[in-house]
Amino acid sequence: MSTVGKPIKSKAAVLYGFNQPLKIEEIEVAPPKAFEIRIKIFASGIAETDDLALSDDMASLNFPVILGSEGAGIVESIGEGVTKVKPGDHVIALCGPMCMKCKSCLHEDSNFCVNNDVGKNKGLMLDKTTRFSINGKQIHNFMSCSTFTEYTCVDEFACVKIDPKANLDEVSLIGYGFSSGYGTVLNTAKVKPGTTCVVFGLGAIGMSAVMGCKVAGASRIIGVDINPTKFSRAKELGCTDCLNPNDSDKPIHEVIVEMTEGGADYGFECIGKVDVMESMILSTQCSYGSANIIGVPKSTDRLVVDVMWLLTGRSLQGAFLGDFKAPLQFPGLVQDAIHAKKFDLSKLVTCKLPFEKINEGFDLMRQGKCIRTVLIMDK
Ligand code: APR
Repeated sequence: MSTVGKPIKSKAAVLYGFNQPLKIEEIEVAPPKAFEIRIKIFASGIAETDDLALSDDMASLNFPVILGSEGAGIVESIGEGVTKVKPGDHVIALCGPMCMKCKSCLHEDSNFCVNNDVGKNKGLMLDKTTRFSINGKQIHNFMSCSTFTEYTCVDEFACVKIDPKANLDEVSLIGYGFSSGYGTVLNTAKVKPGTTCVVFGLGAIGMSAVMGCKVAGASRIIGVDINPTKFSRAKELGCTDCLNPNDSDKPIHEVIVEMTEGGADYGFECIGKVDVMESMILSTQCSYGSANIIGVPKSTDRLVVDVMWLLTGRSLQGAFLGDFKAPLQFPGLVQDAIHAKKFDLSKLVTCKLPFEKINEGFDLMRQGKCIRTVLIMDK
């Protein structure tokens, strides 16, 4: 029986308060209104950002809420006026949507739309309501997409059509983690061939940065992590050296400056810790090094920078979603994965779990036992 125009019952992982386990509930997902899209989610990665939100380390959050920032699925139905997709299209839900009308979207170098919900965390659609409810009570959404649910409903700008040949379990990572690491290397830092890169943090984002360095032709890629179980995969993906800061008496940036005879050409922080950001900056060459921040720190943390670190000629920058204009560039990124085979996303998906085991998935991430866990919804 067609579900078009009707509410759909959906299993969803609902968060009722900070630092609580997610509760699998049967919720109702209302049909899409004009310029909205209802998506059957097939796969959703568990990202560190979801944990940051869950742990009260983001600026704010309205409860109850459905988290999930990295998901892919198939369009179930569309609201009036939607032209970008039709039912049956394979899509990635966008935590970095772009309205393509605001000053940021229209700028050739920007992808941070003023209409997204990043950092504001209002948890509402553009019309300031949500399509999720339980027993008549509204549930908030997260980062414009909410992928920890069998069905989600998003504004048209938070959805991009992709090649149906793509494996949804893998390309879900393009929605957030992969593009953040890979894109910051290629689009933000614009790593040049033959250079030396240092990547701090070898989780899904750091590994994606390593993949980016390899594609860019870096000749030396140094991976840094306090968890040495990450090193074999990092080397497989392109790291030439792996360092554990706990193995050294000296600060890790001193070790890196020594081994690179003056500092790396490019540094990437993929953890979200301000002390590591400092080390990353100091690991780069003082007069032309490029220091790049990808990790998201707690909202109360502050990075203190000695201005001399920059006055000598280093550059310091951050990027959102690897500077990809997601609605325009993600389809091409999917092609790069499945046809050009520039990178292998399966290497990042080290664990797949049924959706109901979502809390176990968070535990695996916190214990450093996975690169990325992807939740698989019933198909
Ligand atoms: N020094 C070196 N490595 C560290 C340190 C440290 N002080 N602390 C943690 N790590 C390592 C962990 O061992 C882990 O391998 O950093 C890695 C982080 O990986 P994940 O937890 O899987 O996080 P990921 O999803 O890759 O996201 C990283 O980017 O977008 C942000 O919110 C995200 O801030 C998070 C960061």
